[in-house]
Amino acid sequence: MSIESEVLDVIRPSKAEVESIERTADELLSLVNRYIADHDINAVARYVGSFAKNTYLSDPDLDLFVLFPEDVPRAEMEEVGLRMGDDILHGDRLFSEHPYTRGKFNGLDVDLVPSYGITSTDKLRSAVDRTPFHTEYVLRRMDGSLVDDVRLLKSFMKGIGTYGAEPNTRGFSGYLCELLVAHYGGFLKALEAATGWKEGSTIVIEGKGPPIIGPLVVYDPVDSRRNVASAVHMDTLALFMVAARSYLSSPSPKFFFPADRVPFSKERLEELAERNGSRIITVVFRRPDVIEDNLYSQLWKTRYALARKLNEYDYNVLRAVHNMYDRTMEIAFELERDVLSKTYRHIGPPVWVKAADSFLGKWKDNEYGAPFIEDGCWNVVAERMYFTAKEMLEDEAAIAGIGREIDPNSMKIRDHEASLNETDPLLLTELMDPRQSWEA
Ligand code: UTP
Ligand code: MN
Repeated sequence: MSIESEVLDVIRPSKAEVESIERTADELLSLVNRYIADHDINAVARYVGSFAKNTYLSDPDLDLFVLFPEDVPRAEMEEVGLRMGDDILHGDRLFSEHPYTRGKFNGLDVDLVPSYGITSTDKLRSAVDRTPFHTEYVLRRMDGSLVDDVRLLKSFMKGIGTYGAEPNTRGFSGYLCELLVAHYGGFLKALEAATGWKEGSTIVIEGKGPPIIGPLVVYDPVDSRRNVASAVHMDTLALFMVAARSYLSSPSPKFFFPADRVPFSKERLEELAERNGSRIITVVFRRPDVIEDNLYSQLWKTRYALARKLNEYDYNVLRAVHNMYDRTMEIAFELERDVLSKTYRHIGPPVWVKAADSFLGKWKDNEYGAPFIEDGCWNVVAERMYFTAKEMLEDEAAIAGIGREIDPNSMKIRDHEASLNETDPLLLTELMDPRQSWEA
């Protein structure tokens, strides 16, 4: 039996599970339809997303859209839709680009999304208006045999950590997986195609729209102005390509079901730092009460901003990892060094320019020795502003360009020793022993 059919036996929802999901979905739809009739609402309810396309994995969410006619004012559409969500799901009102309700029904996660039922994607009013077109397109393009290939690609992506367009993953949405499978004709064919991609590869399925720049460009078949892969980060693209190549040369269920990493002991982590001659530092921020996805993109931004500062001040980042916990957001860095010499060489003006005089005046009583000539310029040994990475970050983090809702005053820094004692060993293991999920 092939690896793929072995995996499918595990990931394909069982007959019993399918029946129970369909029963729940029918029940919810009847409730919504009754609500619409009872309240005289001018709208129709329709399933979209992976449930409607039969491309869902175990424990799916239900994406139920309530489509209003275009002449209903937006405020009314949103208000009626959200009230329906409150009454039926007793869930949370979420406001991403578009307000909707997220709740549970018979144990399944449900997104109830009010939107406009438009006749053409030229008349888009908001991003979610495309979704019913996506569903229709995929249903039209895919015959039954390909749904299992979509399931394979989605769980492959999940296993290697590239599934999902949300900000922490920066990866491939379910719809993008469906398009890749439909376009290339299957799971293995999509992997093969991916091995030939490069940064900026462009995939045209129906029609090419205006030029779009991005690590991967997939023109949306239902709206060629949009890149379905706009969330895919260069590093996620690269990871998928590497995994695809590696799977094709030696397929294994490990790609789909990676083993959990075992955290190293403090001693082992210390050994690795000693082997590398490197030092660890952890930057910890209080986690504000903000939608998780928004925080993750700010955490990435913060990680890049602090790495830039560390490099600028010569601590040189070897590697960085991050994670979010219930109460904190943490970034761990492996640095070439966490303390610098007390002094450095400060280069002054050429001796023949007028400014040389004031340079000499300024440094005439220098504690670390008189100015000297090097390459025609005055030089002087001067004291550094910061000796340790910790001191530097304590002063500079607030102006480094960290995430908008991350409070620099809540920042705590753990130096090498404190990191080994207090930082999540799993996070440090990931930092000090990089390896692919399918190789762990
Ligand atoms: P979902 O995120 O629930 O995806 O969005 P899905 O296709 O149902 O896949 P899984 O199995 O739950 O993971 C529902 C629909 O919303 C649109 C797509 O049309 C998708 O099918 N969508 C969602 C996007 O167009 N882009 C996104 O980034 C997310
Ligand atoms: Mn879904």
